[in-house]
Amino acid sequence: GKRIGILTSGGDAQGMNAAVRAVVRTAISLGAEVYAVFEGYQGMIDGGAGIRRFGWDDVGNVLHRGGTVIGTFRSKDFRERAGRRAAARNLLANGIDRLVVIGGDGSLSGLDLFRTEWPDLLAELVEAGELDQEVADAHPALMIAGLVGSIDNDLVGTDMTIGADSALHRIVDAIDDLASTAASHQRSFVVEVMGRHCGYLALMAAVAGGCDYVLIPEDPPEAGWEERMCAELARGRAAGRRDSIVVVAEGATDREGNAITSEQVRQIIEQRLGEDTRVTILGHVQRGGRPSAFDRWCSTWLGYEAVRALLAADPGSEGHVFGIRGNRVAAVPLMDAVRNTREVSHLIDAGDYTAAMAARGQSFGV
Ligand code: F6P
Repeated sequence: GKRIGILTSGGDAQGMNAAVRAVVRTAISLGAEVYAVFEGYQGMIDGGAGIRRFGWDDVGNVLHRGGTVIGTFRSKDFRERAGRRAAARNLLANGIDRLVVIGGDGSLSGLDLFRTEWPDLLAELVEAGELDQEVADAHPALMIAGLVGSIDNDLVGTDMTIGADSALHRIVDAIDDLASTAASHQRSFVVEVMGRHCGYLALMAAVAGGCDYVLIPEDPPEAGWEERMCAELARGRAAGRRDSIVVVAEGATDREGNAITSEQVRQIIEQRLGEDTRVTILGHVQRGGRPSAFDRWCSTWLGYEAVRALLAADPGSEGHVFGIRGNRVAAVPLMDAVRNTREVSHLIDAGDYTAAMAARGQSFGV
């Protein structure tokens, strides 16, 4: 029968468990065998108990849990060819030649490299006496499917990555909480949120939280922004607002590409407006805790579609990323998604923000 491996890689994200559960149960329902690879790519490299056959009940009681119950890892060994060769050997020791990977763009491009190298890796293993020619012949290709797990919502070609909605909820809850203490003291708060090079979480949180100002990497402010921000905050105060909240994306910069940190923003507000100002860096609470309803049903649907496609795939197929787009599941060629994502980062680095946003083309505007 067909054997599928499932792993989670890179930073964890709420909803990964829902995706793993859907992959496992869909595979079983369709008559395939499914193996969990623990600790991301590292589990394939280490082999042994890191690759375990999963049954229906192995993914019971995980749908509502944050993180990933099969572990994740940013594997350095998988970046080396020797690591990928060991991974191929250990997969084939379990008869696995189909993989679903849930991770960010780095994890997905690693997956594509592994796929393209697969025939050569097998030839090397046979040559070294580590693999029978018959086994190599029976598994000439690695078939892959990717799901995008990342709270950052930074993958081009899909509207929402797994975890982004839960992280956004976490941030908006925090902003609501901060607003009451801020209002009590008539203070200003600078809230720093995650997102690496993507301002989705910051912008959406600022809108949903009714914040006063937001700084994101995709639209760095023109010179003189400090003055404009303070004028905006002062206007709010004059209108009777008791709290001021500025959201800063961790990757925020000015037009010259210099980082704008939350501490700098705090000092600017304090110095120019004489307001008592505090910084709250939300950090990893954004990545923790229960997945939202959206992250649960969406990941379930994506896992289901990924397995259906993977079981129908022919050995020559290049593999797709499955993501939500316009309320439907879209299958995007995996390397197109990764390449386009990198292109957006390059355009942002080059200061071509309009082109970057056009290239990203997400339906939510960021
Ligand atoms: O990609 C997810 C993310 O949480 C980013 O928002 C953040 O920049 C980074 O990972 C933090 O990485 P680490 O897990 O190493 O702390």
